[in-house]
Amino acid sequence: MSFPKEFLWGAATSAFQYEGAYLEDGKGWTVADERCKAKRDIQADSSVASDGYHHLEQDVSLMKELGLKSYRFSISWARIYPDGEGTINSEGVAYYKKLIDLLVENHIEPVVTLLHFDIPWALVEKYEGFVSRRCIDLYDNYCRTCFKLFGNKVNYWLTINEQNVMVMMHDMLGLKKDDPQLSKKLVQCDYNMYLASAKAIITCHKMYPNAHIGPCVSYPTFYPETCHPDDVALAYDIQDMMAFAPMETYVYGTINPMVMNKWIKEDTVPNILEEDDSILKEGTADYLGVNWYCTQTVSATSRNGSFNIGIDVDIKKNPYLEYGQWNWSYDPRALKMALKECYVRFKKPIMICENGWSELEELCDGKVHDIKRVQYLHDHIEQMQKALDEGVNLIGYQHWSFVDILSSSQGFDKRYGLIFVDRDNFNIKECQRIKKDSFYYYRNVIENNGL
Ligand code: BG6
Repeated sequence: MSFPKEFLWGAATSAFQYEGAYLEDGKGWTVADERCKAKRDIQADSSVASDGYHHLEQDVSLMKELGLKSYRFSISWARIYPDGEGTINSEGVAYYKKLIDLLVENHIEPVVTLLHFDIPWALVEKYEGFVSRRCIDLYDNYCRTCFKLFGNKVNYWLTINEQNVMVMMHDMLGLKKDDPQLSKKLVQCDYNMYLASAKAIITCHKMYPNAHIGPCVSYPTFYPETCHPDDVALAYDIQDMMAFAPMETYVYGTINPMVMNKWIKEDTVPNILEEDDSILKEGTADYLGVNWYCTQTVSATSRNGSFNIGIDVDIKKNPYLEYGQWNWSYDPRALKMALKECYVRFKKPIMICENGWSELEELCDGKVHDIKRVQYLHDHIEQMQKALDEGVNLIGYQHWSFVDILSSSQGFDKRYGLIFVDRDNFNIKECQRIKKDSFYYYRNVIENNGL
């Protein structure tokens, strides 16, 4: 089976990593801006990012030249509601309206993420963000506004990007590391975000019954370091808790019993109201957005030589794989397995919402020969093709990223784009766009609807 005719070949960015203009035209401060500010001395922040806000027309014409069928981007809640609530910021609305209009005029399907790591800071100050149930209704209100403003032109929505990562990183939720109630608050945020996502889905279904809406889950594949039963059990448990349990809540509207058990054991059970059950069950996903980059190898039995990726487990190097500059593995074959596993479990259409390769890169005679990214694209698309052949309902692929963006962890050194953005961490220059080799390669793939 080849790629379906309507397959959504795309590329992705997110607001704080792409737009810049972080205080322009009335936009409010966000958790993402605050996180970047903390590292301002050592790397780029979100003030300019890829300067997408000022390169709108140029970027959409590059998308057209690339032949994109879809473009995944996020709306910054704080550009629409600078304080997360209250008055709508008309200049923010105008920016996204213009972007969506341009995309549609150019036959590029917008895939819109409603929250990508950038909770309005005002909500953190006022309510501790998603710790409070108030934030659920404010998020629903913001989503309703987006549906009202843009719903006639948007067919694909994503509610929350990587909630499963946010709840592992206190600062992504605006929480303090030394808060004695941190564990409990993280769980409350997790639970409240499930409700927020479900409510937004219910609202969207009511307003636009034909639209497609779902979550976007981080979905690395976990391998055991050895076949020792303890290693195998650990890999299995992490995979379950990190990816499949959240997917279960989004797809079936139930809290995974093992998760509930963990909350009980750790005394972190969130406040649950009687009405929640029906909200979760009514607000289930139409499709699953998954962000899949690589595999991670974990060990329960040896604790030497580990390196840290921010998850509280021992991550090992897999001797059978090669690794990139940031210790992310190169393991395309695992993508097919992951897609199959996810489809067999949840039977929902899947959209790959992020997948890509990062490198330290620089211009060489005005060009960027990103050979590894070309290979990465080829090898991962080949596995997508195989997954389709074996019956997975894969509806789209959003390459991460369209242009170089601000990495969520490594500033502007860690480049993912098909298009080079000529700036570095501290020298912003003009942010000129230069097409990399991968741009031409991917254009060819799209033109041929596959390899
Ligand atoms: C995903 C995020 O987790 O990974 C993106 O949704 C992020 O925002 C991407 O950029 C890659 O991570 P990083 O830390 O390399 O930017």
